[in-house]
Order: sequence, then C-alpha cells, then structure tokens
Amino acid sequence: MKILGLAIFPFLSILALSVSRQPESSERTFAGCLLRRSDPSYPISSAIYFPSNSSYSSVLQSYIRNLRFNESNTPKPQLILTALHESHIQSAIICAKYHGLQMRIRSGGHDFEGSSYVSDVPFFILDMFNLRSINVSIEDETAWVEVGATVGEVYYKIAEKSNIHGFPTGTCPTVGVGGHFSGGGLSLFSERKETSHHN
Ligand SMILES: *[C@@H]1O[C@H](CO)[C@@H](O)[C@H](O)[C@H]1NC(C)=O
Ligand SMILES: *[C@@H]1O[C@H](CO)[C@@H](O)[C@H](O)[C@H]1NC(C)=O
Ligand SMILES: *[C@@H]1O[C@H](CO)[C@@H](O)[C@H](O)[C@H]1NC(C)=O
Repeated sequence: MKILGLAIFPFLSILALSVSRQPESSERTFAGCLLRRSDPSYPISSAIYFPSNSSYSSVLQSYIRNLRFNESNTPKPQLILTALHESHIQSAIICAKYHGLQMRIRSGGHDFEGSSYVSDVPFFILDMFNLRSINVSIEDETAWVEVGATVGEVYYKIAEKSNIHGFPTGTCPTVGVGGHFSGGGLSLFSERKETSHHN
C-alpha cells in the first residue's frame, strides 16, 4: 500500500488554541459579537444554536460519542456554532477571546472525556461537522481535508480514486480528522509500535 501525503487544512492549527474565561460573559453579548464580527456574505446566524433553538439538543447530541455525557446533568454549552465557513472560525476565536468565553472545538466527538463538548466553566462549542470537504489528488499523492471530515470519509474518497493508495489513520471510521490528526488517535501503523512498547 502506498501512503498518501496528506495536508490538513490550515485552520487545523486553531485546534490548539485555548481561550481563558471571565465569568461575566453573556451569551447575548457573545452572540452579538459573532454577528458583528462576521462577514455578511457568509451569514453566521444560521450557524448559531442557542438552547432555545429547537435543534439545539439534536445538534449537541449528534456528536456525543461517550454516552456518559449525554445526560441532563452534563454541563451544556451556551451556544453551538456550527461553522459554515472559515470566517466563522475567525469570528469565534476573536469573540471568545474578547468575551472570555471558553471555546470547545468538536470534530468527530470521539474524545473519551467529552472535552470537545463538556466543560466545568461557561463555554460554547465550535462544531466542525459542516466543514468536511476532502480533495484527493492521485497525481500529487496528496489530499486536502477539512477538520470536520471523518477518517472513514477520507478512506472512502481515496478509495474512489485509487485501489493502491491509502492513509494510516484509525480503525474506527467515525473518528474525526481534527482530533485524530492533532494527536488524539492511534493509527493502523502505530498499533504495532504500541504493542511492542507493552512487551
Ligand atoms: C436560533 O434562533 C435565533 C433566534 O432566536 C435565530 O436567529 C437563529 O438563526 C436560530 N438558529 C438556527 C440555526 O436556526
Ligand atoms: C441522548 O439522550 C437523548 C435524550 O435523552 C436521547 O434522545 C438520545 O437517543 C441519546 N443519544 C444516544 C446516542 O443514545
Ligand atoms: C476542495 O475543492 C473544492 C472545489 O474546488 C473547494 O471548494 C474546497 O474548499 C476544497 N477543499 C479543500 C479541503 O481543499
């Protein structure tokens, strides 16, 4: 199997950002900031889910992979921003920093501790599932992948173009690219190494 070089879409580096909080942040002010700071050509309001929006719970639950955190007493985000465009991510970072609201970033939601969607301080979720395009170039042997794609989708897109290329991510197809590539997962090729560590 040939290994395909794979580049992560530039804003993956955002995943490492953590934002400190100040308790006086208010969701309305924070949301107002998102509206003010976003590019009108990509309306951000259709990407904002407050607890009062009817789809808030289903959006929140759809990427909760550890059902321990799918409980009524699990801390809930003040809002969920399901970014539709890169500029929404930029607005989220600027406003989170300005209002001191903690940002949790979710890709596939496979973190065991729920850290992409649970916090013990006031927070919001920057949810990446809308940003999941994958472009594979067999000529270059590269692929450009957005952070909200799953590793299964990456395998699928590569397999559509070639039956001899692949990319070593995990064995579970619903793991998100964002978490896996930023260091959160074992890969098919790392498992052998892990085993020898234990021996
Ligand atoms: C959630 O409700 C607000 C109004 O309360 C609205 O502006 C926003 O577009 C709604 N979000 C979605 C995703 O429909
Ligand atoms: C999470 O909880 C909700 C509400 O109790 C429930 O409807 C949903 O099915 C649960 N999700 C899963 C995957 O079990
Ligand atoms: C893939 O290509 C499409 C069409 O050119 C583009 O809109 C999209 O942003 C590309 N995605 C990535 C991750 O490069």
